[in-house]
Amino acid sequence: MNTCVVGLQWGDEGKGKVVDILAEDSDVVVRYGGGSNAGHTVVIGDSRFALHLLPSGAIRESMLCVIANAVVVDPDVLIQEIDGLAQRGISLADRLFISENAHVVLDYHKREDQLREESLGKRKIGTTIRGIGPCYADKVGRSYAVRMSDFRDVAALAEKLRTILAYKNKLFAALYGAEPMDVNAVIENCKLYAQRLAPCTTDTTELLHTAIGAGRSILFEGAQGSLLDLDHGTFPYVTSSNSSSLGLPSGCGVPAKMVHKYIGVAKAYTTRVGAGPFPTELDNEIGQYIREKGHEYGTTTGRPRRCGWFDGVAAAYSIRIGSVDSVALMHLDTLTGLKQLNLCRAYEIDGQERTFFPANIDRLAKARPVYEALPGWDEDLSEATSFEALPATARTYVRRIEQIIGKPVEMIGVGPRRNQTIMKSL
Ligand code: GDP
Ligand code: IMO
Ligand code: MG
Repeated sequence: MNTCVVGLQWGDEGKGKVVDILAEDSDVVVRYGGGSNAGHTVVIGDSRFALHLLPSGAIRESMLCVIANAVVVDPDVLIQEIDGLAQRGISLADRLFISENAHVVLDYHKREDQLREESLGKRKIGTTIRGIGPCYADKVGRSYAVRMSDFRDVAALAEKLRTILAYKNKLFAALYGAEPMDVNAVIENCKLYAQRLAPCTTDTTELLHTAIGAGRSILFEGAQGSLLDLDHGTFPYVTSSNSSSLGLPSGCGVPAKMVHKYIGVAKAYTTRVGAGPFPTELDNEIGQYIREKGHEYGTTTGRPRRCGWFDGVAAAYSIRIGSVDSVALMHLDTLTGLKQLNLCRAYEIDGQERTFFPANIDRLAKARPVYEALPGWDEDLSEATSFEALPATARTYVRRIEQIIGKPVEMIGVGPRRNQTIMKSL
């Protein structure tokens, strides 16, 4: 059984927690896209882990961990993450495999990300400044790209870096009046990265097909959310990769039909970090209540997340493009205490009611959410262990979401911990 976990909103839906739970019944966990812009949280008892590049299944020492082709790897972050887990007694030795074809994020990518965002002023995307866009741009451009396999020949890589830095420094000076970056510092860093990471670098496509052939169970971990997908999200306020499940086949060379189940993760409300349209946003005290109660501050950047009502139009769109079978609905506990809950079941655009999400932001800007009001609840949900144990109003809320999105909710989050998850029969 091969399963994909994918975010249905604008990221931070709780994918890390869902992957950690499903990892119990899997052999291999794979990150298929994105980079250290991701921040996936796993909470086990009093221990909290925030992972940016390692798949969330890494916490379980029986799991093989794969970082596939379409991931952009920041070696600095990855090494810190490996060492951080080792200090907490979790070893990645002999079980981490990084694609030799994955592209590498280096300091000049992060610099470029920052310089570009600063220069854009009000038009900025609000990126994580992790160098994601510039690294993917270099990959598409080909001539100035660095891949994990380059760490196998450091002398050749040094030559390549001299050419790249000469180009980048001219660009930075001409466009932003920025100081040049020291190529020797970049080369020295790469020597260290090569020592640490070249031994884990391999053909992960072969590894995955061999594992699938041997009947192993693979868990694919999406990063970001479907609405941040470069081709299918709210462009230009997106990330630079195919973060919906459409990115899985191209991201790791495993065809979509080899994946048996797609689980979409959504919050019981909606959040977004960075700029871009957000039809159900609550720029008021209710949004503030959700932010504080749900600790809605970025795992990667610490930025406050924008909060709003559950958007059934957006979630249904992500479900459609992502071939999603069932949904994990997280953070139901966070809504406790709100008298009335609004569910967006349609948009009104130019006087017409529509239920298909317009990803084009000019059309999305015209969308007015059509809400249905449901009663809230005051009970604390954090100890609930079954669907039946939830207050009737909470059950009605979940059932109405199922009707709007047209798919069953299979898991319900009632707190950040691994065991604060209700398995609901389909
Ligand atoms: P990801 O990027 O999709 O993995 O999600 P993040 O880790 O960035 O953000 C989700 C946050 O919500 C983390 O702090 C989790 O610990 C927390 N979380 C996950 N599920 C629940 C839940 O059901 N209830 C509450 N209160 N917190 C949750
Ligand atoms: P996880 O995997 C939430 C957002 C950024 C910004 C836009 C582009 O934790 O859900 P980028 O740095 O990718 O060029 O930024 O995408 N973004 C995320 N938002 N969760 C994420 O990852 C995100 N990764 C990128 O905030 O709006
Ligand atoms: Mg996150």
